[in-house]
Amino acid sequence: MQQIFAVFLSFTCYALANAFFRPYCQENATCVRGCSWVLERYFNGVANQVLPDNGYRNLTVPSLAMCGRECLMDDRCFSFHYSKGEMWCELNGATASRYPMDLIEMEGMFYYGPEEPKLVKLLASGNKTGIPSLTDCRYQTHGSVSPECSKTGQHLCLKWELDHASKEGYPATPLSWYADPDSQAVLTETGVTYHDLPLTAPSPGLCCSLPMTYRDPVITPQSYDLADRAGQARGCSDLAAHPCTLAELKEAYDHGYRGCLYWGYFATPNRDARVDGCTHHKDDECYQGTIANTPRPATHKRVYCCPNRT
Ligand SMILES: *[C@@H]1O[C@H](CO)[C@@H](O)[C@H](O)[C@H]1NC(C)=O
Ligand SMILES: *[C@@H]1O[C@H](CO)[C@@H](O)[C@H](O)[C@H]1NC(C)=O
Ligand SMILES: *[C@@H]1O[C@H](CO)[C@@H](O)[C@H](O)[C@H]1NC(C)=O
Repeated sequence: MQQIFAVFLSFTCYALANAFFRPYCQENATCVRGCSWVLERYFNGVANQVLPDNGYRNLTVPSLAMCGRECLMDDRCFSFHYSKGEMWCELNGATASRYPMDLIEMEGMFYYGPEEPKLVKLLASGNKTGIPSLTDCRYQTHGSVSPECSKTGQHLCLKWELDHASKEGYPATPLSWYADPDSQAVLTETGVTYHDLPLTAPSPGLCCSLPMTYRDPVITPQSYDLADRAGQARGCSDLAAHPCTLAELKEAYDHGYRGCLYWGYFATPNRDARVDGCTHHKDDECYQGTIANTPRPATHKRVYCCPNRT
């Protein structure tokens, strides 16, 4: 069991008080930390862990508090490493919540970041499968946060990924962007809640890695015209998915998925499908005894999307 060390640092930053735009975040993004947001804060530390490759400055300072103060004073700093024995202080331009997969063991070093103790404990526990990452910057629009996720080969988390992460013990988050462009998610102690836009404050994004294992299809939140194949594909792509093939819908059926018996578009043009075991359809309107599909689709429907797999 990892022990968590908290250090409370306060710093009055007159000089930085007017620095509202954070140059170290990409365009249209605002950094989480910095003096315009917080004047004092806790950093939670964990022993024998480091976040490699994000350091931008090394210092020799005699105390942990001095190292932390250097971090608070520097707009670029999101977290830091400290080794008491060597009086070594390294300032990092990112946090472990952004790069949960990267945290590694290093004897004698402490990682200190803005994460809640619960998250640091989770990250240090070894198995980081499926842990979302929370961006260090805040974004005004859904569109401007997706490229940040893509940068690390991730996508904005889907609902089921957030529900899963919450069950696995991912701690509370602020209002954050996720896959659905029309709402934001908050993880709380008791689960995930979703809030409709419009919202006023810039928000971080929750990025997830592509699912490695079988996942149920997701139905697009919006409907599309029958002929709007590009729109249908884009709707699925926003969910890190693609329009399902009949084979994929059958696989889903075999896993127990029923899709609320909704008639939706799928990969084959000009047809609709329903995951119902072909209760009323047969022959060429029944795929392998499982997926009803007809050439008489309605002109405006939502789409069955199957998650991309790596
Ligand atoms: C700081 O020092 C460590 C150990 O020598 C090194 O691995 C790291 O790359 C240095 N960081 C910077 C930003 O120079
Ligand atoms: C890690 O946890 C996931 C569930 O979150 C589990 O499916 C997986 O088997 C675990 N991996 C290891 C190596 O323990
Ligand atoms: C930033 O916002 C402006 C105006 O909304 C937009 O034109 C521009 O493409 C955005 N830049 C990025 C990188 O998203």
